[in-house]
Amino acid sequence: MSAVASAVAAVPVRSPLPEGLAGSAAVIVGGSSGIGLAAATLLRRLGGRVVLVGRDPERLAAAVARVRDVNPGADAEVLGVAADGADEAALAEAFDLAGSVDHVLVTSGGLTGAGPVTDVSAGDLRAAFEERVLGAFTAARLAAARLSAGGTITLSSGTYVIRPVPGMTAPLAAIGGVETFTRALAVELAPRRLRVNAVRYGVVDTPLMRGASGLATDAAMAAAGAGTLLGRYGTAEEAAASALFLMANPYVTGQVITVDGGQSLV
Ligand SMILES: NC(=O)c1ccc[n+]([C@@H]2O[C@H](COP(=O)([O-])OP(=O)(O)OC[C@H]3O[C@@H](n4cnc5c(N)ncnc54)[C@H](OP(=O)(O)O)[C@@H]3O)[C@@H](O)[C@H]2O)c1
Repeated sequence: MSAVASAVAAVPVRSPLPEGLAGSAAVIVGGSSGIGLAAATLLRRLGGRVVLVGRDPERLAAAVARVRDVNPGADAEVLGVAADGADEAALAEAFDLAGSVDHVLVTSGGLTGAGPVTDVSAGDLRAAFEERVLGAFTAARLAAARLSAGGTITLSSGTYVIRPVPGMTAPLAAIGGVETFTRALAVELAPRRLRVNAVRYGVVDTPLMRGASGLATDAAMAAAGAGTLLGRYGTAEEAAASALFLMANPYVTGQVITVDGGQSLV
């Protein structure tokens, strides 16, 4: 056994099924909407303790109330901290409030820096990297300092990284960086028995997606998704369940798993 391996405390064996997350504590950066909110809901159903982070305080308060209502009798608290995920001091408050943390999920990020390459300024590009790469780094730096063996960090990517569309050079350069960061960080933190993964999402029905696509109604979403391989877009819950899989399975690290209904195959 190497010196590093022998120095690491043994990680308690727990179930690789989502039930293994029962009673754990998670910080979800981006937990006030879409996939992050769905992950919070699933964790709450399992009796987990969640701290949601988002910038808009009203949206955050509504999300906290919604997640609490999922399991009103649960002992575990649901908390919200209004913060920008790239602001280390503000995000540190969320971690401090959370106390002990087992899992960190980052689902923050929009389409900052989108537009034709000739219109993208250096400032736009920096903003895209700040939102995505600095956001992931900030959460990871705080998490790495606090998580105990067995803890996880789960980041977000999208299938446009491998099947780009025009007008997305800056955001996709940054999101691609998050995938590389995922693998590099997994290797670095493995000796401490911390795991790092990411989900590469396809089109998922969330406020972000509806806003970006202009598909405001359920009927419009259904019609637009009908031509995809599985005949529909993904739900936020399906997307979130993949993040919970990565948190729960103790033998998965450094992976970017694609959850896109097979759409990147065609
Ligand atoms: N939905 C899709 O089709 C799709 C496809 C591929 C990839 N993804 C990726 O999956 C992730 C989740 O997407 P989603 O569809 O669930 O988006 P969403 O519905 O817009 O939710 C994003 C959440 O992140 C928060 N957020 C955004 N920027 C933040 C920041 N700088 N600091 C802290 N919180 C921030 C938002 O709240 P505030 O705005 O109030 O801060 C919101 O709670 C994103 O990274 C997205 O790019 C989504």
